[in-house]
Amino acid sequence: MKSVLSYDYTNMMAEVIGEHGIAGNELTSVNTRAREIHAKIEAARASGALGFTRLPYEVDAAKELSGLASELVENFDHFVVVGIGGSDLGARAIHTALTPGIYSHLLPRPKGGMRVSFIGGNTDPRELHDFLATADLTRTVFYVVSKSGDTIEPMSVFLYVRKLVIDAVGEKAHRRHFVMATDKKKGTMRTIVDREGYQSVIIPDDVGGRFSVLTSVGLLPAAAMGIDLSRLLAGAAAMDERIKTSSNLRENPALMYATLQYLADTTRGQHISILMPYAANLKEFGFWYRQLWAESLGKRLNSQGTVVHRGPTPVAALGATDQHSQIQLYNEGPYDKIITFIRVEKFEHDAVVPSAYPDLEGVSYLAGHSFNEIINIEQAATALALTQNGRVNGTITVPALTPEALGELFYFFEMAVVYLAEYYDINAFDQPGVEAGKEAMYALLGRRGFEEHRKRIEERLNQKNEYIV
Ligand code: PA5
Repeated sequence: MKSVLSYDYTNMMAEVIGEHGIAGNELTSVNTRAREIHAKIEAARASGALGFTRLPYEVDAAKELSGLASELVENFDHFVVVGIGGSDLGARAIHTALTPGIYSHLLPRPKGGMRVSFIGGNTDPRELHDFLATADLTRTVFYVVSKSGDTIEPMSVFLYVRKLVIDAVGEKAHRRHFVMATDKKKGTMRTIVDREGYQSVIIPDDVGGRFSVLTSVGLLPAAAMGIDLSRLLAGAAAMDERIKTSSNLRENPALMYATLQYLADTTRGQHISILMPYAANLKEFGFWYRQLWAESLGKRLNSQGTVVHRGPTPVAALGATDQHSQIQLYNEGPYDKIITFIRVEKFEHDAVVPSAYPDLEGVSYLAGHSFNEIINIEQAATALALTQNGRVNGTITVPALTPEALGELFYFFEMAVVYLAEYYDINAFDQPGVEAGKEAMYALLGRRGFEEHRKRIEERLNQKNEYIV
């Protein structure tokens, strides 16, 4: 299939929006660097270093996952993802984008799919309680996802629901209520899988959590939703074909996107990168993007080991909702933001505002306009207002929110982040800042091996705090 995504960067340009935009000659002067980055990434891919770039083509692995999902659909009504971060957000983005999302459980089961929900992205006991109040454990299968197999949030939820499932169906039968996704060999979850004999799928060790949406992590839940995985992969592959074959900024949308973001951040002080889809179904996609961006680009050290403290701040906004919340700031606050809209040309369902109150000008003009038309006019009007105020903004457009378009969107942002990391000369694939927090949690919760760590933290916590009112 051919790529259907476009990136309109007109309103990023100084020639259109004035001094806060990027000048055409700046783009020309960075062209050689962009080509070098493209070449470096393609060389890394060729050497097998970028595991996630292989995923769009792993059609057979996707077929196996679809087969597993079909078996689960036969036996259960409810598929629950227990994961956090990269082991959660991609599947949530797919769920919201391609199904009726939070309304799914009120509707008949989708063809070939079942109800899918998420727990494990937090350790909030109230959320756990409310979730369990709606779940029939005898008809539920839990998909516990943790690449490391040691993460506190999903593992504690797993231990809790495992006990409840054993209470509900018995020790022997409980095993069929769990499918685990983890590393092939490493981690505590792998040990548990081996000990219990749970069914498991592998998260490839060369694909980082936030780049794993097109592995078993996102694909098994997608298949459980009844989504045709080949369509998601075809979209990602179409974007990849476009990206890998062109080092020309004007032909490679992810490279252009990364280049403009880099220039805006480093030459114009535009350190905040806002993604604002005009589609409620892309709300969770915004959260997926936010994690991808923040964990990949927020780094203390560059590749030389020099302290650089890099990283534009990602913000997930939502059109049209945030027009009545954020847009005032975006139009009149500091010139420190880049706004990227996602626009969906044709929505899957539409409705027309009926005619009523013809004598009331405040509402009568709405009659006859479709909601599809209204939301897209809102997006265009917001972009226009920002442009008139000299605020850099760009628009990614997809013709419709299909599995193919979503696959393209995932892949577009993954590659844009990889290119950006090259511009910043940082490692997109590690997350030492997350590890530090995890270790402090292990220490405070009494994990063996972290005793010294715990002592140090406790000394700090036991200090008298004078700054509290
Ligand atoms: O992108 C990442 O690597 C992280 O966000 C992880 O996905 C997150 O910390 C969860 O880790 P795990 O899958 O090991 O439980």
